[in-house]
Amino acid sequence: GNGAQVPVLVIGTGYGGSVAALRLAQAGINVHMVEMGQDWSTVAPGPDGKIHPKVTSPDYRSFWMRTRTKQPLSNFLGFPIDKDVPKYAGILDAEDFAGISVYQGRGVGGGSLVNGGMAVTPKRANFASILPSVDAAEMYATYYPRANAALGVGLVDPDWFERTSYYQYSRVGRKHAQRSGFAWTFVPDVYDWDYMEAEDNGSVPKSALAQEILYGNNYGKRTLPKTYLAQAAATGKVTISSLHRATSVRPGAAGGYDVVLEQINTAGDVVTTKTVNAGKVFFAAGSVGTSKLLVMLKATGALPALNSEVGQGWGDNGNVMVGRANHMWDPTGDVQSTIPCSGIDNWDAGGAFAEVAPLPAGLETFASFYLAITKTQRRAAFSYNSATGKVDLSWQTAWKQDSITMAKTIFDKINRTEGTIYRTDLFGTNKIWGDHLTYHPLGGAVLNKATDNYGRLHGYDGLYVIDGALIPGNTSVNPFVTITALAERNIERIIATDL
Ligand code: FDA
Repeated sequence: GNGAQVPVLVIGTGYGGSVAALRLAQAGINVHMVEMGQDWSTVAPGPDGKIHPKVTSPDYRSFWMRTRTKQPLSNFLGFPIDKDVPKYAGILDAEDFAGISVYQGRGVGGGSLVNGGMAVTPKRANFASILPSVDAAEMYATYYPRANAALGVGLVDPDWFERTSYYQYSRVGRKHAQRSGFAWTFVPDVYDWDYMEAEDNGSVPKSALAQEILYGNNYGKRTLPKTYLAQAAATGKVTISSLHRATSVRPGAAGGYDVVLEQINTAGDVVTTKTVNAGKVFFAAGSVGTSKLLVMLKATGALPALNSEVGQGWGDNGNVMVGRANHMWDPTGDVQSTIPCSGIDNWDAGGAFAEVAPLPAGLETFASFYLAITKTQRRAAFSYNSATGKVDLSWQTAWKQDSITMAKTIFDKINRTEGTIYRTDLFGTNKIWGDHLTYHPLGGAVLNKATDNYGRLHGYDGLYVIDGALIPGNTSVNPFVTITALAERNIERIIATDL
């Protein structure tokens, strides 16, 4: 409530925030978390009897405070598929900046609620070049294993993979990759693979095999509320206020930090505004959420001593999407698991790693679909716009051309080998590349720049960044395992020395 005093406040309940809360609580410290999205475990089922709708039938539950859906694949056979919905605190935010839409999870569990669960540890050499100030030996000996274990990362059973109709699209992806000489690999995931096999044999309710992804999975995916946050709750030392948005952090008159919280309802109206005092504050609002807060707080005089690295070094992990049109003899399946389990690795030669992704349309599309992660050097900055009172991002859509060029090192070659062409109907009319979005925002408060080498913000004792904002724009693979492992490393040091 208003006027409350807490030892530690964590802003956001995604990967970084969940690691911080669990480890602090295990060290005996009481932690309060605030989350602007809903606690989905308490939300009433929708008209389909489920908490989360299928990816093929978005409704009011799907999008954060929009009046029209903004599906990542906006078109099918060239026809626009978005539709009007009532404004609601839905699970997926498509946050629009001038040059890019940034997709993010909203709710207790952050991105873990909406993501594909692909849990990839980067090659050590790549990690070392991305975060050179971090001891890579320690990361690979201790913190990556710790993160993988706590997240529940596993691999698809290769025998089941070969026989299930739900991964025909991946097997076609493998055939096409290998015939063009590319390395193809299984990719680990936090989805419960035994549960997915049980879905296939009909003994449990279907989730991944029933087109659930993007707008939440009802069963099977090991989201943060089932892993880190469940463990945190079991300590009895962690409380979470959902539908609470942090809007200000400033030094308190009697020490600590005064944090302003807006409690909102599911339509987005502010119900009450509270101020709490926290001994220490962890920014874990995600790359965009943390960067926006810090840039605004520095510019408006609440935290003027933050350094000029705040807001810098933001990247899109080089995300670009594309579909290929297959021949009639290469169907990808009218049923497809929503959980990707394989990828094509052309990072060293061409700067691209591509997930073989599902297109779970419920009918045969003869399409192979991919989300590529590329080694783009483009970085954008957040800045406070005093005219609008909002934070802008300097990303330009044209910068995605670098990523497209890298992704083409894979797909132009596959198309030549197979005698196939790109799909032009998935992102508009006659538009090949999904170059308008990212699922992987990273940076904005980069480690060892805006913060010290453990996430302590320069300029203020007791303020920390512990999420994707620490990572300078790219992880060479899907990011959440790296975000989690880095948070494990940093919180261990912070607990040992600051508390
Ligand atoms: P994260 O975004 O998880 O959490 C931040 C939380 O803070 C959110 O819950 C937000 O609502 C809350 N918040 C923000 N501002 C706030 C404020 N002012 N006050 C209170 N709360 C606030 N990655 C991967 O490794 N494998 C994958 O397969 C995928 N797939 C994927 C698909 C899709 C559709 C998306 C959108 C994303 C992915 N990702 C992914 C990316 C992954 O989900 C992402 O990198 C992490 O969730 C980021 O973790 P963080 O801890 O940085 O923030």
